[in-house]
Amino acid sequence: MFNEERHFDQPIRWAMVGGGRGSQIGYSHRNAAQRDGLFKLVAGAFDLDPARCRDFGENLGLDGDRCYANYKEMFEQEAQREDGIQAVSIATPNSTHYEICKAALEANLHVVCEKPITFTTEEAEELKTIAAQNNRVIGVMYGYSGFPMVQQAREMVQRGDLGEVRVINMQFAHGFHNEEYELNDPGLKWRVSPEVSGPTYVLGDIGTHAFYLCEVMTGLEVDRLSCMRQSFIKSRTPLEDNAHVMMEFKGGAVGTLWASAVNSGSMHQQKIRIVGSKASIEWWDEQPNQLRYEVQGEAPRILERGMGYLHQDAPGVAANRVGGGHAEGYFESWANLYHRFALAFDAADRDDQAALADIWFPGIDAGIEGVRLCEKCVESADQNAAWVDYE
Ligand code: NAI
Repeated sequence: MFNEERHFDQPIRWAMVGGGRGSQIGYSHRNAAQRDGLFKLVAGAFDLDPARCRDFGENLGLDGDRCYANYKEMFEQEAQREDGIQAVSIATPNSTHYEICKAALEANLHVVCEKPITFTTEEAEELKTIAAQNNRVIGVMYGYSGFPMVQQAREMVQRGDLGEVRVINMQFAHGFHNEEYELNDPGLKWRVSPEVSGPTYVLGDIGTHAFYLCEVMTGLEVDRLSCMRQSFIKSRTPLEDNAHVMMEFKGGAVGTLWASAVNSGSMHQQKIRIVGSKASIEWWDEQPNQLRYEVQGEAPRILERGMGYLHQDAPGVAANRVGGGHAEGYFESWANLYHRFALAFDAADRDDQAALADIWFPGIDAGIEGVRLCEKCVESADQNAAWVDYE
């Protein structure tokens, strides 16, 4: 059960880099982090424009002196204060994640970073090393992984409810960018610009979400993959607005990932279907309180969040904020993750490594695998969809 009961004396003093006025994802972070009172927003470098940052921060109730022109100034000045920040979330466009995350870790801050966490796996590995050296924790915002039914799926796979996993079908295929909307949308413009977005568009932007859900639910590791990617809006080349990936997993399972921004008429279509030798499950982010469970030869069942027949004793399955039947959604999933990030940051501060190891959350390893997925897909696509080893 997640609620607002305190786990430690004072909320973690927290700041944001990016996520300014009008940004797509800033409010989601602030809403989720402060939902249970475990974080308190006290500072920010929210925006590239210092005046807008200050105006926005003051509107959020911050002291104007703690609304900084840039992250470097914020890390330096906050370090001088007795009540300086202890953690920071990074919600800027992709090209800046590595340098800001590195600076935050070097300033001894815990970090929540947006995905894709870096452009290269080398950079992501470097962040992992710095975090370990400084006893800091990195959370990565794979926001859909906080849903209890995702944990139920994981538990069903682990307990063998499906039999042996054979096929995994992943997709995150929306239709919002089926035309050249970037001409009037700065948030899309940077996503299709390689110098800001990185080596991929849809693979990194949304494919990593579905792929992470597959990793969480199945625990399987990719052995090799083949990727085909293209831009139906030609001006987006070399970045893709559509991609298909075939995967072979260690142990014999196979899978596919469809990432697309040109699936006209579709909202998210983020679905994960796991096919086992006895049964299959399917989860859809637009109906996140339900998990479809199909046993061969039996009528299909819809499992509902918050019900006693779930694997209630498994971590995260009973992480409800309200009883079954009430629709929990996107913001609850994010808040569930921020709740865990807070517990992890606190455990690290107390140097309680056992407690830290016990808290499930998407961390730096999840971030690294998302970056690796993008790298390997590009490597394959550049060789005409050749099969490439995943290691
Ligand atoms: P956006 O373009 O809507 O907003 C970016 C914000 O960052 C703006 O307020 C901008 O002024 C600010 N900014 C840019 N550079 C900055 C810098 N150097 N210092 C301080 N502020 C800076 O971008 P959006 O869509 O909010 O995406 C931000 C990040 O979040 C991206 O990495 C994206 O991939 C990720 N994202 C993740 C989602 C998820 O579900 N986890 C969903 C949407 C975005």
